[in-house]
Amino acid sequence: MYRDRLSLFPDTVALGPAKDDRPSLHIGGCDLNGLAAEFGTPLYVYDQQTIDGAVQAYRDALSCHYPGAAGITYAGKACMNVTIARLMAAHGLLLDCTGVGELHIARAAGVPRAQILMHGVNKNQADLQAGLAQAGTLVVDNLPELQRIAQLAGGGRTPALWLRVRPGYAVDTHLFHQTGQHDSKFGMDADECINAVAFCQRTGLPVTGLHFHQGSHFHAAAEVVPALDMVCGLMDRLRRERNWQAEALCPGGGWGIAYHEADLPHESIEEYVATVAAALTEKLSSYSLPLPRLQVEPGRSLVARAGVAIYRVGTVKRAGGRRWLLLDGGMADNIRPALYEARYSALPVSDPVSRTPISENAWLAGPYCESGDLLIEDLPLPEIEMGELLAVPVSGAYQLMMASNYNGALRPAVVMLRDGVARLAQRRETVDDLLLRDIV
Ligand code: LLP
Repeated sequence: MYRDRLSLFPDTVALGPAKDDRPSLHIGGCDLNGLAAEFGTPLYVYDQQTIDGAVQAYRDALSCHYPGAAGITYAGKACMNVTIARLMAAHGLLLDCTGVGELHIARAAGVPRAQILMHGVNKNQADLQAGLAQAGTLVVDNLPELQRIAQLAGGGRTPALWLRVRPGYAVDTHLFHQTGQHDSKFGMDADECINAVAFCQRTGLPVTGLHFHQGSHFHAAAEVVPALDMVCGLMDRLRRERNWQAEALCPGGGWGIAYHEADLPHESIEEYVATVAAALTEKLSSYSLPLPRLQVEPGRSLVARAGVAIYRVGTVKRAGGRRWLLLDGGMADNIRPALYEARYSALPVSDPVSRTPISENAWLAGPYCESGDLLIEDLPLPEIEMGELLAVPVSGAYQLMMASNYNGALRPAVVMLRDGVARLAQRRETVDDLLLRDIV
């Protein structure tokens, strides 16, 4: 009954022999027991092959379904560190950095300027200065921002500017993940975009593209169609009213994934890209507009399934008829269940799929001083002993980026796995790190 869960794990998941002769979970050719012993827990491991495969899936789908030029931007907010930034840059992706902080990581990773794109809904002076000096593309959220860019620009090469359109259509997802609706804080409506192009034409700013993003973690590809229709209509107006054509169009990211076996099967990356490409080509041809470069911008669907979180069960408790498995991590490294009611699954690392099921479901919680520190509710799991390791799949996107030091928690180590080799990408925080910003 637990076997379905294996398909939530990275592509390289396998059951291999462990030292106690029970089969254990292997990823990227590495035994998770061994990794936990070497790097400690909680531990986040990433399977490089799964990331490579997701990039390839986008690439193949774009070349198969879109007749024009196309590319991929990785939304770095899903998971950003030097190792991931280098990997995405080596794949030839653009790297979306939200503000000066992520840009700093991209630069430390040696990502070339041409591959850096900057986002941000309310960029401060430091963001704008860094973006103008170091990004190849800057996505402009609003007209006041454009005016500030005009004041700051000059003296160097100005990045290509893309205007963020507010299409008026969100996708069906958690309320906190919706961005495309009429009253969203993000982007500009059609009239504002026309004014923005006129402003760039007057001031000589290099506006070359349009961008929109309807929201994150949606599951029906057809939801992009109304927004694409709106943006194609805007492109038609821009050509007629401003004699301006977009060289690039980015329909954002947001393609969803399966976190739990109940979310399977999930529409593929190819179905999503095919729908975007078909709707765009059809609509543009109805306006006799040329095809812009299509630049998709996924985050989660590139990295989430590559990541697995490994926790150790400290205590098994029964309270009021509930079986509690108390883990050494929780809301400090994964706030998503508390924030979005995100539903995860898990397997024991040793003998993961062939143990005898028991009728009593498990409630997995962390060590923090909140009842909301609940990682997984009501999950069928076999008898689990204290000291065992549990692996939570689909942990590669947003968890670590939203991690905190709540209760003095130390952010976990991050390890990249490939062909049986484990490379530390980020060390575990130490208690001394907790004092780094204090004036002592
Ligand atoms: N492009 C823009 C402009 C975005 O704001 C985002 C995500 C993406 C692309 C990538 O979306 P993705 O493909 O990863 O769904 N913390 C939340 C997700 C917030 C997403 C914010 N923007 C979570 O844990 O689910």
